[in-house]
Amino acid sequence: MKDHLFLSSCAVFLVLFLPETSLAHGHYSDQHWYQPREQHILYAAEDTEPLTSLVIDTFQNPTHNDLGFWHGAGENLNMHYEPGSVRLFPTDTDQNFHTQFETNGCFSLLPWQHQFLHVEFVGTDQFTVSLNEHNVDCNPRRAPFPGVPDSVQASRYVMRSGYGRSDHDGGDHEDGDQSPAAPPKTELFIPLSHFRINHNRVMSVSFTGFYTNEPITLHRVEIVSNIPPPNVENDYFRVPEKLPTGELILRCSRPNSFAFGIDDGSPRFAQEVMRILDEENVHVTFFAVGAGLRDTTTNLTQFYREMLKKGHQVALHSNTHPKMEALPTVDEIDDEIIPAQRTLKERLGIESSYFRPPFGTVGARMRQQIAKYIPNAYIVNWSVDVEDWLWANSPTPEKQLEAFYRGVARGGNLAVMHFLNPTTVGYLPQFIRHVKDAGFKIMRVDQCMEDPNSPPLS
Ligand SMILES: *[C@@H]1O[C@H](CO)[C@@H](O)[C@H](O)[C@H]1NC(C)=O
Ligand SMILES: *[C@@H]1O[C@H](CO)[C@@H](O)[C@H](O)[C@H]1NC(C)=O
Ligand SMILES: [Zn+2]
Repeated sequence: MKDHLFLSSCAVFLVLFLPETSLAHGHYSDQHWYQPREQHILYAAEDTEPLTSLVIDTFQNPTHNDLGFWHGAGENLNMHYEPGSVRLFPTDTDQNFHTQFETNGCFSLLPWQHQFLHVEFVGTDQFTVSLNEHNVDCNPRRAPFPGVPDSVQASRYVMRSGYGRSDHDGGDHEDGDQSPAAPPKTELFIPLSHFRINHNRVMSVSFTGFYTNEPITLHRVEIVSNIPPPNVENDYFRVPEKLPTGELILRCSRPNSFAFGIDDGSPRFAQEVMRILDEENVHVTFFAVGAGLRDTTTNLTQFYREMLKKGHQVALHSNTHPKMEALPTVDEIDDEIIPAQRTLKERLGIESSYFRPPFGTVGARMRQQIAKYIPNAYIVNWSVDVEDWLWANSPTPEKQLEAFYRGVARGGNLAVMHFLNPTTVGYLPQFIRHVKDAGFKIMRVDQCMEDPNSPPLS
């Protein structure tokens, strides 16, 4: 992937303008969210039979799980199978391991909605567990595919057992030390209600959002009806509260709407983008990096001010454009949110609840922090990818047009592009006309999400 760098006037810091990498995953923003009920937890009583459980994966087979459906890795995640386990060797936060409920269709988890996802594993707990919704058509050839996930931070749900046993290893276990002789079993118990997706249309469970390079060995993934009661043995484990994760959107909800989310950008092409949007008489959403706005050599502040005056939306795109979920600490994640908010406020006089994650990288911790600092946060991914990051500087830049048309044909209506290359900017009028000819109305992301705070359609 190519980089776009330029130096600020004092040459002290580099602002990286990296286009989002993309595999064109997206999400259909369904209005019928599964509404979690009051959490009621069933603790196992010694003399009761377990209610129905569902064993999803015990890793007996390298290509399919216990339900008979595919499991495997994405984004070149290295893994190693042994009968009964798979070991993951993450090197990038976007890598993932999926285990599916269905070949490529939708599976209803409603019968299990009050139960728990139970995972047995060994190794680091620095990752995200996601439950992934399918798209509305339950069709892998429609965009977005997969649909929207909701995510939890594994470390918050960890239950370790083997505490308080005198024969354990004689050590002090108050601090959770693990004995090499008898490593405590690590388990996750996650209420399915903590995944705020449509439980009638589930596709897979996935392990992703790694913020470590330490390996993780998965042994068992299942749904169980109850959890062990808190006791000395499990260090009085209790299920934590669900932390809000913001609404992740990959698709516009308003019928016949289409939105362009335009990220980053080189000041060289700003005036041309403005001219095209004026000529085509459409409004878009710009996602602006805080550091780029503060860099006085770029003229981007003036540009975005003028775009705001013309009725476009300007929204958040982090402070320095890292893969936020990969950052080791929550403080570093906060440093990508709070200064970006401050910069938009100080330079442009706006507050935005729309946040596009750099590279489309999404995980539980960054979603939690975004939800914490941004009221009514929308985390804006996409369902149409121009793939400028892949083709703009290649011998076949016209593949950007093909990628755009393909996304639209598959039902995508929320696009990602950048203004970093003459070829991409050159195709912008064609993108716009294609969408207009298909009968869509082009508008800002907040308008296409039917946000009551968005300006009326012009
Ligand atoms: C967001 O988009 C990126 C790029 O297409 C994709 O890799 C990622 O899976 C998407 N995230 C979600 C949560 O859909
Ligand atoms: C900076 O942006 C403003 C607003 O778009 C524009 O009027 C001005 O010509 C730009 N200046 C340069 C040097 O590009
Ligand atoms: Zn970006």
